[in-house]
Amino acid sequence: MPVITCIDDLRELHRRRTPKMFFDYCESGSWTEQTFRENTADFQDIRLRQRVAVNMEGRTLATRMIGQEVAMPVALAPVGLTGMQRADGEIKAARAAEKAGVPFTLSTMSICSIEDVAEHTTKPFWFQLYTMKDQDYLRRLIQRAKDAKCSALVITLDLQILGQRHKDLKNGLSAPPRLTPATIADLMTKWTWGLEMLRTERRKFGNIVGHVKGVEDTSRLGEWTAQQFDQKLDWKKIEEIKKLWGGPVILKGILDPEDAILARKVGCDAIVVSNHGGRQQDGAISSIRALDPILQAVGDDLEVHIDSGIRSGQDVLRAIAMGARGTYIGRPWVYGLGAMGEAGVTRALEVIRNELDIAMAFTGKRDIENVDRSCILVPAGFSGVWD
Ligand SMILES: Cc1cc2nc3c(=O)[nH]c(=O)nc-3n(C[C@H](O)[C@H](O)[C@H](O)COP(=O)(O)O)c2cc1C
Repeated sequence: MPVITCIDDLRELHRRRTPKMFFDYCESGSWTEQTFRENTADFQDIRLRQRVAVNMEGRTLATRMIGQEVAMPVALAPVGLTGMQRADGEIKAARAAEKAGVPFTLSTMSICSIEDVAEHTTKPFWFQLYTMKDQDYLRRLIQRAKDAKCSALVITLDLQILGQRHKDLKNGLSAPPRLTPATIADLMTKWTWGLEMLRTERRKFGNIVGHVKGVEDTSRLGEWTAQQFDQKLDWKKIEEIKKLWGGPVILKGILDPEDAILARKVGCDAIVVSNHGGRQQDGAISSIRALDPILQAVGDDLEVHIDSGIRSGQDVLRAIAMGARGTYIGRPWVYGLGAMGEAGVTRALEVIRNELDIAMAFTGKRDIENVDRSCILVPAGFSGVWD
């Protein structure tokens, strides 16, 4: 068993153990990858205070996100295709999240279906919705999430069209991978991945294939998804979906204070300040820099979460101290999954939990609920003076 001390260790194992096209799919941003890089780099600009001679016994990280109890303010972000990073990946990750007491968000573009994940877990998970043009399919998808007792609908707003990731085009990304001389040569070095994949039936987009007329094979699916994302999505449509769902709603992909105000107006339980991990608008501001102006715009009336760029418990602490109520990790849990399956996702959560706990203790706090701006040092002009 390798000694895993940080998220980067899992990333390296993921790289070694997973077919290149899936590791690259995870480890890339759109176009020049500027926003992808800045998401992580900008977190480092915020320094943590160190206080001494403060009783640090009896610490707790337990809190609430959208009123639901969480063991720490860290959820697993929705990530598409994770059943290709490791066989049955979504089920494995959902189980690890359940054991750790944190929310798991299942992507619309998952390999394991909503029903599959519900069947293999005992606690409700969150479902992430991409809005599609096919209204009939959209309604049925929402109903399926309701039937599976999902406890929140996370509506992603920043992917009506797809940001281009060069590596995916060059690698010919597909699920399952098409067999070419290059993919065969790569797969020959990824035996465990291949054997596990042969043992599962789950190798197609489980929420789509078999649920949409005429979409049975993956080649047609690619065409279908490219045409199906609803470019006409607007606030009115979001309101309709919200009504249809009738439960807690989280709006994901807010980066601008004006949109945060509109999200508050439409009514939702939380927003996620996110640039999709730098995979959509390249050149957009990093999430952590976008956080403060958004918090100021919405005041105390709206719960604000954040993702994009979190790679450690210290980053979680930075985000919570800035004023976010909750955080999400995307790539860190996928690295864990690709590295070691369910045990790897568990390890990613343990690493982050341990780092968060100790970093919080060093700031002189014992309860995550009491973490605030006094725990950090934010450089002047951090959120930018933009014209
Ligand atoms: C490989 C990959 C696939 C993703 N797929 C989805 C998806 O299906 N739905 C969604 O809302 N966000 C998706 N995201 C974005 C994540 O939910 C999240 O916003 C992002 O990963 C956070 O950044 P981080 O990876 O730096 O933690 C994806 C991200 C990655 C890296």
